[in-house]
Amino acid sequence: MVAILGYSRQQIVSAVQDMYTAVADAPASPFHFPVGGRTCDRLGYPEEYTAGLPTGLMDSFAGVGYPFRADAIRPGDTVLDIGAGAGNDSLIASRLVGPSGRVIALDLTAAMTRKLKQSAERGDADNLDVVQASAEQLPLPDASIDAITSNGALNLVPDKRRAVTEMFRVLRSHGRLQLADVVIHRPVSVDCQDDPRLWVECVVGATVREDLIALFEDAGFEDVTTVGSHDYFALSPSAQTREIAESFGAHSIELGMRRGEQAPSWIHQWLRRLDPRRWLLRLRRRGLLGAAALGLALLSCYGTLALVSLLPLLGAGLVIHEGAWAGAIAGFVLLALAALLAGYRQHHAIVPPLLATAGSAAILYALFIDYRVLVELAGFLLLGGAALWDLRQRRHQEIRVLGLDQPSAE
Ligand SMILES: C[S@@+](CC[C@H](N)C(=O)[O-])C[C@H]1O[C@@H](n2cnc3c(N)ncnc32)[C@H](O)[C@@H]1O
Repeated sequence: MVAILGYSRQQIVSAVQDMYTAVADAPASPFHFPVGGRTCDRLGYPEEYTAGLPTGLMDSFAGVGYPFRADAIRPGDTVLDIGAGAGNDSLIASRLVGPSGRVIALDLTAAMTRKLKQSAERGDADNLDVVQASAEQLPLPDASIDAITSNGALNLVPDKRRAVTEMFRVLRSHGRLQLADVVIHRPVSVDCQDDPRLWVECVVGATVREDLIALFEDAGFEDVTTVGSHDYFALSPSAQTREIAESFGAHSIELGMRRGEQAPSWIHQWLRRLDPRRWLLRLRRRGLLGAAALGLALLSCYGTLALVSLLPLLGAGLVIHEGAWAGAIAGFVLLALAALLAGYRQHHAIVPPLLATAGSAAILYALFIDYRVLVELAGFLLLGGAALWDLRQRRHQEIRVLGLDQPSAE
């Protein structure tokens, strides 16, 4: 497989539909992710929940967790199952809500909805309606749902923010949501993120755990609680998928939450999105913390110097405490060094940590022992080289793990 850049959203959606048509129609085929009733057992579904579910549907189970651990469904509820697949969870929900409740099983893939419809029509559930639609545009009125359940679908949805906003819209105030989905420790770099093959394998489309939780909180969900997690990809029959999952820290989690009274105002949403702690975490997860800290070190060093020289020309002055100034530069330099040393754990290349250590030592020597501009400049150059080398190594490692350096098998 060779990386072709710039896939369209439609190509991703088609790839998802092709993959889950195969899971519906030929569940015994080899898949990169775990499929079938055995996976259900290993994810923690109690026997009393799965007993009596049609074997044909169990064979096409492709969930990533046991969302019912969050206990969001009550008798009499109207429940929406988003990305219902063959409908194991929908059938479990239909039993939980009982005859006075109703379950809407929604899925994008026609083969899945066909399979579930046949089963519902055979009499397995009278209170179950099956709808083929996208999570990004739910064909349901506002505040019409008491509880939402979803298992393994959100990571496959291109516009997750829109899907979460739709969940908020259709849920009634204080409605409950239970969700199992794949999360990752660090995101895949942008230029292979749109590859449909990688997307459908459930890792590349997944979100960093904190970002997923923030997505729900930004939309107005409250009491977002992680109730379980699984080393889901350890169940995968594919060694390559297991390696990809390990490299990106991919695993599945189960979340429970409830809808708040109102969606936060847009100012509130933007303030939350601009939270510096979020940005710091994002930079670290994307391997950009070293480069960002180096940028701040350069800015505090030469930016301050430029300000001190230019302000008198405007008739203003700036008094700076030299110790505090040197301390700030040293702080950013040490942060860059720490980030670049940490990069070694990911790519195992020794050059970036060596360059970073030499560069930092030179800058600290110039700052605190004997100031020489050339030593300081050489230090920044070495640190800059280390940051660029580190980024390159991270990218190479990612390409290798994702198999993007292999010739296409197609
Ligand atoms: C990993 S499978 C899980 C299926 C099911 N929840 C289960 O536990 O077996 C994900 C399902 O989400 C569906 N899906 C993917 N993208 C979707 C979207 N944008 N809207 C609705 N369903 C989607 C797929 O067709 C697939 O059936």
